[in-house]
Amino acid sequence: MIERLSKAFHDKFKTEPLIVRSPGRVNIIGEHTDYNEGFVLPAAIDKAIYFAVSKRDDDEVHLHAVDFNEDFKGTLSSIKPVKQHWPNYVLGIIDQMQKKDLPVKGFNAVIDGDVPVGAGLSSSAALECATAFALNELFNFNLSKIEMVQMAQRAEHAFAGVKVGIMDMFASMFGKEEHAIKLDCRSLEYEYVPLHLPNIKIVLLNTNVKHSLSSSEYNVRRQQCEQGVTWIKERYFHVNNLRDATIEMLDECVLQKDTLIYKRCRFIVEEIQRLLSACEDLKKDDIQSLGQKMYATHEGLSNDYEVSCKELDFLVDTVKNNDAVLGARMMGGGFGGCTINLVKEDAIDELIEGVAEKYEREMKLPLTAYIAQIENGTGIARY
Ligand code: GLA
Repeated sequence: MIERLSKAFHDKFKTEPLIVRSPGRVNIIGEHTDYNEGFVLPAAIDKAIYFAVSKRDDDEVHLHAVDFNEDFKGTLSSIKPVKQHWPNYVLGIIDQMQKKDLPVKGFNAVIDGDVPVGAGLSSSAALECATAFALNELFNFNLSKIEMVQMAQRAEHAFAGVKVGIMDMFASMFGKEEHAIKLDCRSLEYEYVPLHLPNIKIVLLNTNVKHSLSSSEYNVRRQQCEQGVTWIKERYFHVNNLRDATIEMLDECVLQKDTLIYKRCRFIVEEIQRLLSACEDLKKDDIQSLGQKMYATHEGLSNDYEVSCKELDFLVDTVKNNDAVLGARMMGGGFGGCTINLVKEDAIDELIEGVAEKYEREMKLPLTAYIAQIENGTGIARY
């Protein structure tokens, strides 16, 4: 991949680039908790975006995306969101840097990668982190990793219009080989939790569905959580987000007002608790209990938070009674993308074959499967 990219860059721009690698992510448990100031448990994976870059002598930005075989050209004095989808993740970062008065100069970049787009593995966050890291290196801005993560999050809000939490960027930037990151999304304190999965692998099953609903419904879920907090706050002044809320508070302040908002909020409060006990399971190497909690998360995401879809539900239901699968659930924002499954190593091939056959027959869609290795976060790519 790096050789291919380096060659593509050289053919186009006739110089040697700096190449940055920024990975996609999985999330073991803790879904939709980041923007409620709860905890998440993501990890960076062996699928990544590669960003090759070099300086130009003028104030233009020339981009090329290998996968789409598309170009983009723009000027630094007029950075704004564009119709073409992918350049926005790069432009959004330039915009954030300009807002911080960082002197971004002209550059050429070629983008390549193997994070499947629209699979819920955060290819967009990986591209944003890759861009931030590469420009920080190229122009010696001296930004810290956390500053770059926060810029990436703001770039997504401003240039993609989705009010995402911080999980995806944080995981891409801070990932560590064979570890998950237990991130407190309020304080941004984090702890690396060893992922001891003896004879078990993380298998991702991609529905190959990307519902157009996902970004608008995402923002709606955020608002519903905020509404719940507003009602609780009328009685409990110290509650600023669902991280501070309890089920009793929801019963008292939200249930009579709106049962839908109650369901949404209750899922979040339960999910934050579930994540905390799942971390204890991991510490005790109790993968069986962790897996049960993943199934419970899926139930909640499907029935209460209502961000699943029939294809995701089908994949989880299909593996549920299979002894080789310790846990499974939909992963990420929802309405499509992948399920994450903890599968006994020696049963993986058979499982994938069986599920693919059923999925393709019933859902009339192809199934794609990946085994995710847990890798380091954003950095200079090694040749
Ligand atoms: C998307 C968002 C994240 C997070 C997840 C759900 O991936 O980008 O911030 O909210 O959905 O957990």
